Amino acid sequence: MAIIPYDDRDGSIWLDGKLMPWRDAKIHVLTHGLHYASCVFEGEKIYNGQIFKLREHSQRLIDSGRILDFEIPWTAEQIAKASIATVKAQGLQQGYVRPVAWRGPEQMGVAAQATKVHVAIAAWDWGTYFTAEARFKGLRMSWAKWARPAPNTAPTAAKTAGGYMICTLSKHAAEAEGYDDALMLDWRGRVAEATGANVFLVIDGELHTPTPDCFLNGITRQTVMGLARARRIKVVERTIMPEELAKAQEVFLTGTASEITPVREIGEYKFTPGTVCRMLIEDFNRLTQAETAAQAA
Ligand SMILES: Cc1ncc(COP(=O)(O)O)c(C=O)c1O
Repeated sequence: MAIIPYDDRDGSIWLDGKLMPWRDAKIHVLTHGLHYASCVFEGEKIYNGQIFKLREHSQRLIDSGRILDFEIPWTAEQIAKASIATVKAQGLQQGYVRPVAWRGPEQMGVAAQATKVHVAIAAWDWGTYFTAEARFKGLRMSWAKWARPAPNTAPTAAKTAGGYMICTLSKHAAEAEGYDDALMLDWRGRVAEATGANVFLVIDGELHTPTPDCFLNGITRQTVMGLARARRIKVVERTIMPEELAKAQEVFLTGTASEITPVREIGEYKFTPGTVCRMLIEDFNRLTQAETAAQAA
């Protein structure tokens, strides 16, 4: 199926304070964010025409900018309102929202204090991140050769464009070998996360997940931990070594785009999508529907 290029679509994009025709939302080639990765973004999901966890995502965008030493010239509330306006203008009942903030072309070079910070928000109809088959049977994952860097090597708590270099490289390598995705270890050799989602293990009825000390503490991750606790499932955040995957009965990923997706294979380890994962998927679906229906009312 041919992909329609993202710069050649109908509709409106919010850019620096106003909605404008989709194809006119452009930047100059000498934009600092493009050359030096002074760019942060969000990924949000629309259910029932409403954005799930909008406040949390809007605040994380601002926090990510501050971690990259720039101040987004809008409050979280203004960003949230603009996101709602963008979804409305696109007439979307479900789909995806992409707010992005970057340093402009006023200054070139590593220093960027004189640049202006720009913000754009686009929304479009986007199906599931992984195929329906992969979501049902579980993903096949390889080991990434790239490691998540230490927090004093990269600003790992922020959702930055630069942070995704090693994710794209790892995802390409996995897909070239016929896998759906790759699991990344961190610089210490501990289990970290997938290329665009957090990871959970089910071990003897308990949920185990790596402590997010060098990767994104995903909003979906936090939501799923809350759902598990509501079901009286013990949730353990801790250091997880790769060989501990041998002890897991189930493994799944969590993320805004991938929601909760079971995993059936990581390198030499095999799993069967099971009851804990399925129950959390049902609870998550109920929550996304209930919260967004309440927002719509
Ligand atoms: C690298 C990475 N880790 C984790 C996540 C999960 O974050 P969230 O649940 O906030 O979408 C994402 C998704 O955006 C991601 O790209």
